[in-house]
Order: sequence, then structure tokens, then C-alpha cells
Amino acid sequence: MSIAEAYDTPITRAPLVPPSPPLAPDHLSAIGRISRMRKNAISTWGPRAYQEEVVQGRFFGRSSFILNTPDAIRHVLVDNYENYSRTPAGIRVLRPMLGNGVLIAEGRAWKHQRRTLAPAFTPRAVVTLVPHMLAVIDATVAELKAKAGAPLELREVMQRMTLEIAGRTMFSFEMGRHNATLRDFVMEYANELARPHFLDMVLPLSWPTPQDFARARFRKRWTAFIAKLMAERRAAGKNDGAPPRDLFDLMGEARDPETALRFSEEQLGDEVATMILAGHETTALTLFWSLYLLALDPVTQDEVVEEVSSVAVNGVPDLDRLKFTRAVIDESLRLYPPAFLIARAATAPDTVAGLPVRKGDVIMIAPWLLHRHEKLWRQPAAFIPQRFMPPSPPPDRFAYLPFGAGPRVCIGAHFALVEATLALAKLIRAFRVGLQDTTPVMPVGVVTTQPDHSPLFVIKPR
Ligand code: HEM
Repeated sequence: MSIAEAYDTPITRAPLVPPSPPLAPDHLSAIGRISRMRKNAISTWGPRAYQEEVVQGRFFGRSSFILNTPDAIRHVLVDNYENYSRTPAGIRVLRPMLGNGVLIAEGRAWKHQRRTLAPAFTPRAVVTLVPHMLAVIDATVAELKAKAGAPLELREVMQRMTLEIAGRTMFSFEMGRHNATLRDFVMEYANELARPHFLDMVLPLSWPTPQDFARARFRKRWTAFIAKLMAERRAAGKNDGAPPRDLFDLMGEARDPETALRFSEEQLGDEVATMILAGHETTALTLFWSLYLLALDPVTQDEVVEEVSSVAVNGVPDLDRLKFTRAVIDESLRLYPPAFLIARAATAPDTVAGLPVRKGDVIMIAPWLLHRHEKLWRQPAAFIPQRFMPPSPPPDRFAYLPFGAGPRVCIGAHFALVEATLALAKLIRAFRVGLQDTTPVMPVGVVTTQPDHSPLFVIKPR
């Protein structure tokens, strides 16, 4: 039985099919591809990419492979993962913000960082962070109650909320004035420097591109800002013997289980920046797209309310019983995976899906394509949260990759799912969410899967 046939989803009405951008022609020139990639990487893929198992292409002398088969993906992300590193263009774009943090480190340095950080992200550690999350979610609900009835941009509200959660779980203090500064940094970077230029893609990493000089200037200001936040947190008091109260305590005290080494001050700064950046925008997008889908699909929204109302204890939703709410999050992550592309460069020759791969060739595993692939999903373009609930079997591990897979799987996946499920439950329990703006919202792939505009929502207290 194919994966698609396995989804025997018990729903009786026609499901919502949310908007998605028009497909590209199957054969784009290299220049055409670069120009589209800068504006919207999702718009570089044509029909074949949603139908075929492997799409091979050439890009300035290198082969590229889009992989859409679970076996080939497992080979690259798990079985032979050490043969695949981040691409030079990816490193160029991410390094100014993430430094040598765990997301872009490779080899021994990465192993040391990942081992050292892992205990701070276990489900047990995340439990200690949940009160921070709930405090921010409750404050957001209260703030929205005061504005209910007036049109508002929930995209911006979600960004501020997840950034506040990232800051509060990291440092315990209210981000307040820092929140706007951090948002400005992120927007400044995303709007210009995060978009790869032609030279970013074709020059070797050792050759700086004109953009790299601008990125280096940005990095100076950015690391000074992170250092200021860390100094402020230290001034707020040491933890002397008490249990860790936030990620800063957990990461600052962490020791590599093999070497007993702690992070240097500079390394800790890069990890702090990595966690704030990798975590907040991705989760804000998950919530934005979930709210957008529920606004377009009021029947599903009512089903969420029914569940949340029945499983709350003293106003706090019981996370383990929010099965449908979680399925809505899972389905939003399928349709609009914030990380739309996982790209790797081969560091040595290999064979993937029976095809020869040379050193330097680029492998693209695109959750955007995989999650909408015609051979892997039934009604791939439709919003059907029930596909993530019994009696539907869980999807193939390598056909559903919102958080990646293998040793480099997202370290914050559990953190993000707890945060997003709790926030969606509380928001939908408090408000009926609708759209004032009826222009379809189109996804744009630039680093993450962003909306092409921020639609106005109308929320009414229940
Ligand atoms: C819905 C929210 C999130 C999504 C969709 C997401 C997605 C991903 C994906 C796809 C990867 C793997 C990239 C690859 O293999 O190239 C990744 C890695 C990573 N994520 Fe997340 N992420 C989310 C939330 C978070 C949060 C909340 C944190 C931290 C608090 C975080 C920290 C990281 C880090 C540090 C890595 C790099 C891990 C490594 O290379 O060892 N992410 N994420």
C-alpha cells in the first residue's frame, strides 16, 4: 500500500484548499532561477518537482538533486549524514547572525555543541520553561481582549509573542524594550542580507562577496546587542545552587558529557543568538499559518474550541489531551513548513537513489515539495488535520519533515510544538478568529515560509 492510500481520512465535507503560488515552468534558465530564488524560492519549482521521485538539474557546473523519496532522504540525513554539510550560500547567509552556533557548525565542533546543548531541550527541561510560555501567552490574550473587534495584524502579534517567549525562556526577564530592537534586527537582515545574490551562490566561501561586507558590519552590531542582553541577565543575579530557571542557566552550566568542557563566552553568545533566532520566527509562522487556516475553515475552528473547552484544568489546557489542536499544528506545518528547504552540499562522492553524486553537488530536500507531493499524500493541497489522528496511521518518518530528521534534526522541535499547541489552544479558546482581508495570502520562501502580506484579522471574544 502506498503512503497516499494509507490515509483513509474520515471526513465528510469537502476540505479547505488554501491558496498556494502558481507553479514555475519545468525548465528555468539559471539566471531565471536565481532571480526567482531571491524573491521566492518556492516559485522556482515546476510540476515535475511535485510528481517525480528525483529531479536532477545543473547549476553553474554542479549537479543538483531534489529528493522526494523517503529512502533517498534517509540516506542523506541519517545513514551517510557526515558526507553532507550546509551549502556555502546557506553558511554565508546564516553566519552573520548565528556565528559558530550549533546550527551551522560542522564535524567535531558541531558534535561537541550538540552533546552539550541536548540536555537543555529534553521534554523534562522544557517543562521548566512552560510557565514562561504560559505567562506570555496569557498576557497576549489579555492584550488582544482589549483590542477585540478592531482589525489587527495577527502576523505581527505572533512575531512579538514568540520573540517574547524566546527572550523570557532564555533570560527570565521581560523583553520589553529589547523586543522591538530584536525585531528590527531580524527584519533588517531578512529583508536584504538574507537574500542570496548571484555571487553568493557561485563563489567559494573563502571569497567574500560584496554582500558579505555588509553582513560583517551587521554582525558587529548584532553581537554587541546579544552581549548586552547577556550582561543584563548576569546582572539580574546568579543562580547559585538553585535549579536552572531558564535556557541561559541551562546552557551556561552545561558541560560536554565527553570532555566536561563548557562553552566560552563567545560561543555561548552564538548559541544564545541561534536559539532566539531559530526558534521565534519559525514558531510565529507556524501560529500565523494555523490561525490563517482556521480563519478560512470555521468548522475546524469550532472543533478546536470544543476540544480545548473539554480538556482545560483551571483554565490551563492539558497538553497531552489536545490531540486535535496538535493535529491542526501538524497539518499547518505540512502545508506551510517554515523551513521550506533543507539543502546540503556533498563533501565526497556518493550514490543517492542510484545516481552518482560528486563532491560539491547540491542535495535539496524540500519539506515544501515533499509535503505536497502527489505520490506521498492523498489530497496534498487540502487542509485535513484528521490525517494526523487515528485511525490514520502516522506519516512516513521521511515524508514529513517540518523539523528535519537524523542527527541534525531540530533541537527545539519539542519546545516549538509545546509552545505552538498551548498558544493556539488559548487563542482559539478566547477568540473567534476571522479575516477582514480577503486577498489570498501567498507563501514566500525567503529563509522561511513567510506570508506575502500581513492580512488583517478580526477577532471576537467567545
Ligand atoms: C515550528 C518551529 C520550528 C521549525 C519548523 C524548525 C525547523 C528546523 C529544521 C527543519 C531544522 C533542520 C535543518 C537542517 O537539517 O538543515 C532545524 C534545526 C534547528 N533548530 Fe529548529 N525549528 C523550529 C523551532 C526551533 C526552536 C524553538 C529552536 C530553539 C529554541 C530551534 C533550534 C534549532 C537548532 C539549534 C537547529 C540546528 C540543529 C543542528 O544542526 O544540530 N528550532 N529546525
